Amino acid sequence: VIIDLTYNKEEAVHFGTELTPTNVKDQPAVSYDANPDTYYTLSMVDPDAPSRKDPKFKEVNHWLVTNILGKDIKTGDVITAYLGSGPPNGTGLHRYVFLLFKQPKKLEFDEPKTEALSREHRLNFDVKKFAKKYNLGEPVAINFFKAQWDSYVDERNKKIKNKN
Ligand SMILES: *[C@@H]1O[C@H](CO)[C@@H](O)[C@H](O)[C@H]1NC(C)=O
Repeated sequence: VIIDLTYNKEEAVHFGTELTPTNVKDQPAVSYDANPDTYYTLSMVDPDAPSRKDPKFKEVNHWLVTNILGKDIKTGDVITAYLGSGPPNGTGLHRYVFLLFKQPKKLEFDEPKTEALSREHRLNFDVKKFAKKYNLGEPVAINFFKAQWDSYVDERNKKIKNKN
């Protein structure tokens, strides 16, 4: 099942669509088939950091929202604020994977929070382990896009407060 993702009201993501860091600098509109009384967790990770050949930072946590009631992302608790793609120059295409989990109920999460322009707690995230810790089971919907370096990445990196 697909998570519907649209950047800038026009760039739809469909299992591997290639976008640029410029396209994805702001968080996408998200929609999916939801039970209105169920809580969901949405995760976006990059398993190809710093490159697909040597993914030693796998995974980078780009976005993590929990306790989303139905499909209204705004109702959720933001653990990791959205950070668009920032693949280093020369590392080729990275995959940015979105995973939606159904929660058994509203949960307390103890992961530290990360602000939008911070890199704190983002590297070496393990979404599988996270899902296991909270009994979220397998993802109920997914999607992903691919992106490689463009000049916006350098602009973005200048704004990031917390390098690691
Ligand atoms: C990006 O990398 C290429 C080589 O891979 C290099 O020629 C180019 O100067 C780099 N651009 C920037 C802005 O770093």
